Amino acid sequence: MTQEGADLEARLEEQEAFEPPESFVEQANVTDSGIHEEFEENWPDCWERAADLLSWDEAYDTVLDDGDAPFYEWFTGGELNASYNCLDRHVEDGAADEAAIEWIGELGETRSYTYDELLTEVNEFAATLRSLGVGEDDVVTLYMPMIPELPVAMLACARIGAPHSVVFAGFSADALATRMNSADSEYLVTCDGYYRRGDALDHISKTNEGLAGVEHEVSDVVVVDRLGDDLEHSLAANQHDYDDLVADYEGETVEPVSRDAEDMLFLMYTSGTTGQPKGVKHTTGGYLAYTAWTSRAVLDIEADDTYWCSADIGWITGHSYIVYGPLALGTTSVMYEGTPDYPEKDRLWEIVENYEVDIFYTAPTAIRAFMKWGKEYPEKHDLSSLRLLGTVGEPINPRAWKWYYKHIGNEACPIVDTWWQTETGGMMITTLPGINTMKPGSAGPPLPGIDARVVTASGEEVSAGEAGYVTVDKPWPGMLRTLYNNDERFINEYWQEYSDEETDEWVYFPEDGAKVDDDGYITILGRVDDVINVSGHRLGTMEIESAVVGVDGIAEAAVVGGDHEVKGEAVYVYAIPEDGYDADAELEERAIEGVLDSIGPIAKPEEVLFTPELPKTRSGKIMRRLLEDIASGNELGNTSTLRNPEVVDDIAAQVEDD
Ligand code: PRX
Repeated sequence: MTQEGADLEARLEEQEAFEPPESFVEQANVTDSGIHEEFEENWPDCWERAADLLSWDEAYDTVLDDGDAPFYEWFTGGELNASYNCLDRHVEDGAADEAAIEWIGELGETRSYTYDELLTEVNEFAATLRSLGVGEDDVVTLYMPMIPELPVAMLACARIGAPHSVVFAGFSADALATRMNSADSEYLVTCDGYYRRGDALDHISKTNEGLAGVEHEVSDVVVVDRLGDDLEHSLAANQHDYDDLVADYEGETVEPVSRDAEDMLFLMYTSGTTGQPKGVKHTTGGYLAYTAWTSRAVLDIEADDTYWCSADIGWITGHSYIVYGPLALGTTSVMYEGTPDYPEKDRLWEIVENYEVDIFYTAPTAIRAFMKWGKEYPEKHDLSSLRLLGTVGEPINPRAWKWYYKHIGNEACPIVDTWWQTETGGMMITTLPGINTMKPGSAGPPLPGIDARVVTASGEEVSAGEAGYVTVDKPWPGMLRTLYNNDERFINEYWQEYSDEETDEWVYFPEDGAKVDDDGYITILGRVDDVINVSGHRLGTMEIESAVVGVDGIAEAAVVGGDHEVKGEAVYVYAIPEDGYDADAELEERAIEGVLDSIGPIAKPEEVLFTPELPKTRSGKIMRRLLEDIASGNELGNTSTLRNPEVVDDIAAQVEDD
């Protein structure tokens, strides 16, 4: 490194606050520094600004109806269609030939869809779904990887008022069955397979295995042929080839159905404290207004931008910030099928250069991997088109933030570290890139109109520097409306902790720990429930535990997250073998298989440690905190409250041996 380079590194290392670059501020979508106060003073009417970004078939009469809190309703009386807002209106406004989706396949092939072409595909698939009998409010499950037919299917569902439930393609057959059962979903769109690092992966066998576990009759399954001759497969009687079906509806148009603002747009299953995934319900008006507004204000998206969010559409980030938010704003959204290091570790930077990407949004786990691979990969490419960078999904450590800032953004792009959740629908805590100073490692202040605080266990606001829990004291348009078919669990999971039912004061509890500084910047410390965050993916430890305990020969298990350099957290399993079974490699292998079968490769344990006992308190509770410390290699605290302190040494010794 040159002396100049070394000086620069040293300066960056010490710098704790960064101002938005002047060149960015000059063109930013939001530059009014009074916006936080303005939203506070005009709350909840301030949210009309978000609703104004949409085209409504019927104007709403009330911004917020809190008559049946916490079952809040937004923009009531209003009617709209999400697919019309993401497609037709842009075509009508003269953007028919502008690119809507730029898709890049892993093997290097590309597909480009203008708004007009995407609308045509959506119309044809909407007609196809209708012909199969899909009606308004029928839940359609989409079990698909990052292929263009996924957003097409989502928007086709939205067009006919059928809520979609996207199941991440990396999830297992069991996970598909659980979600279809829970949503009573009778229709499925899937594909034969897809490519990963050049190999053709079989997805249809996994689909069929999942379908075997669906308890009700599945009317129709539509199968996209992604692999062509690379995978031979046959279709069952109720299964149809996507292209064959759609061919009958070529050129067909379907009038977008006017949906009530509060009608369900989609369901998204996510992990919680118990083994059963939660079906988060999002609605049409509030969700779309909120994702459009945050896309504009935080990601600074404009119609003529090329914007790229590298998440998978199978998670909420992809729903909100690959599909709905960006397309509602009429921008060009890039969609990449593959992995960041295939065929080479500069794949993403090659795409940024080729497509002249303006805005790039990714997860800290990816940034930590880029750091590990080295700056020579981004340096091979011209990244000067970039204007803004974003991160989401897990806390970003200051070192990774600074690396991203320097080596990807060339110190000329603001970074937005956006904290939010499947349940919140869109971003909640982040700096506004044209206004706020950035502090690496801290997400920033709550967005305008978002009443997020950090409080003690009893609900008092913490003082600066102290740790506490995040709460959100006022509702917002993008919030979940309930858990599908389970209002009671909705209340228990999110509202019970801090609300006062008697005074009708409702406080949302996201189950994250945090601290706050003197400027009101919030640093997220991580989940405080039994959820772990592996590579930005949210996994329930209970789900993994029940998968392990389901394995023959395992009597009891505890699953915790341990620190991991790239993944943030990794899955550690502590298991007690049943009498008569050896704690050997075969049992370990079967425990891992159990997790892969019930959840999928994202939940693959880093290690399975066998132990004759689990550390328990005198009241019989497993000391998870202690197991986390062991997995993370931390100093162990006081173990005197344990019923069986000797097991801790045994387990810790095993970890050291590995
Ligand atoms: O713990 C927080 C973490 O991810 C959780 C939400 O996970 P999920 O519903 O899968 O949504 C992920 C994408 C929005 C949160 O409870 N999280 C998300 N963003 C951040 C974060 N933790 C720290 N900083 C963030 N920017």
